[in-house]
Amino acid sequence: KNVVEFGSSFGISTLYLAEGILETNGSIVTTELIDSKAKKAIENFKNAGVDHLIEMRIGDAMETLKGYAEPIDLLFLDGWKDLYLSLFQMLEPNFHSKTIVYVDNAEMHDTKRFLKEIQQTNKYHLTPKHDGKVVIINSK
Ligand SMILES: C[S@@+](CC[C@H](N)C(=O)[O-])C[C@H]1O[C@@H](n2cnc3c(N)ncnc32)[C@H](O)[C@@H]1O
Repeated sequence: KNVVEFGSSFGISTLYLAEGILETNGSIVTTELIDSKAKKAIENFKNAGVDHLIEMRIGDAMETLKGYAEPIDLLFLDGWKDLYLSLFQMLEPNFHSKTIVYVDNAEMHDTKRFLKEIQQTNKYHLTPKHDGKVVIINSK
């Protein structure tokens, strides 16, 4: 229901997430570093008629999500991979027992390092999907 996305680009993934929250009556906070991409994404949300369900935060997600206070049901990680760990740790206080973290580009070097760190905490189940290109993280 409460979705946070790291890295919206032109908002294609956000539109798929929006399809989900239409069913759950939820909302999305999405983040994009590059102003022109974020503006194009907002235009796409308007054209799809879902802009009222999506909050776009423009700038570095480490800043725009700082102090984020809402519980997170789904965190979608798809921004720069070297920030996955710090962003995850920053938002971890917002997780609950059923939070799902969807990790894209799981086969990339920096993502593998991130996943190794998460595994070592012994707090989470990691489930590979799509030939290892995605990993789903759940609480144990
Ligand atoms: C792979 S693209 C996202 C694709 C999008 N999720 C989709 O599937 O349609 C990664 C995006 O993350 C953005 N990004 C990278 N680092 C970021 C940061 N620190 N804060 C916000 N956005 C960031 C990039 O500008 C880029 O547009």
